Amino acid sequence: MSVNGGEAKKRLGVLVSGSGSNLQALIDACAQPDYPAELAVVISNVPTAFALERARRANVSAVALDHKSFADREAFDAELVAALRAHRVDVVCLAGFMRLVGKSFLDAFPQRVLNIHPSLLPAFPGLHGPRQAVKHGAKVAGCTVHFVDAGLDSGPIIAQAAVPVLPEDTEETLAARILIQEHQLYPLAVRWLCEGRIEIRDRTVHVRGGAPAIDAHALRSPGGAR
Ligand code: GRF
Repeated sequence: MSVNGGEAKKRLGVLVSGSGSNLQALIDACAQPDYPAELAVVISNVPTAFALERARRANVSAVALDHKSFADREAFDAELVAALRAHRVDVVCLAGFMRLVGKSFLDAFPQRVLNIHPSLLPAFPGLHGPRQAVKHGAKVAGCTVHFVDAGLDSGPIIAQAAVPVLPEDTEETLAARILIQEHQLYPLAVRWLCEGRIEIRDRTVHVRGGAPAIDAHALRSPGGAR
C-alpha cells in the first residue's frame, strides 16, 4: 500500500487490554487514504477485551495472548515479538495495554514503540492518571503520547494535549474529557512517526515541520469559551 502513490504505508501492531477506544481512533485514521499507516494486527493479553471485537469488525487480525498462560514476562514478551514480526509490524502502539514490556521487546522495535497515557507526564505516571489529578487539585490535566522505554511512562514525550480540571470534576468526568483528546492526539503522533518526521535528541523529541508541545485548542475555560 502506498500514500500519495509514494512511500509505503507503515504497518501498525496495536497492543490492548480493554475497551479499545484509542484502537478505534487508529482504525478510523487508517481508513483515510492519505494516512501513512495501516493496521497489521491487534493483540490483547485479555482474551475477552472488547478491543479484539473492534479489530474483527474492521477486518484486522485479532490475536489473544493471555499473559497468565506464560511462565514469566520474558516468555510472554518473546511471543508478543514473534506475533508482531509474523505480521511484519513496523510500529507498535500500546493503547490501554496493561502490561509493562521488557528490554528484549523494546530492543526488537527500537524507537518504534509508542504509548498513550492519560496525564500530562511526567506528572502522574502509572495507574489512574485522572484520579490522581483530581485528588491533587490539579488545574490542568491531559494526555501524553510518548516513546516507551524501560521505565514506567518515562520515555521521551512526543505530543501532549491539555484539558482543564473543572471544580465539579470527578475522576470519571475528567477521564472522559481527556479521552476525547487522546483520540485526536494518538493518530496525530503516529502520523508524525510514520511520516519519518520525528527525531530524538537527548530525550527531546523534535518533529520536522513543527508541532505544538501542548494543543492549546484543547483548553477551555469553565464557562465553555475557547
Ligand atoms: C486510556 O485512557 C489510555 O490513555 C490508557 O488506557 C486507557 C485506554 O482506553 N493508557 P481505551 O482502551 O483505548 O478505550
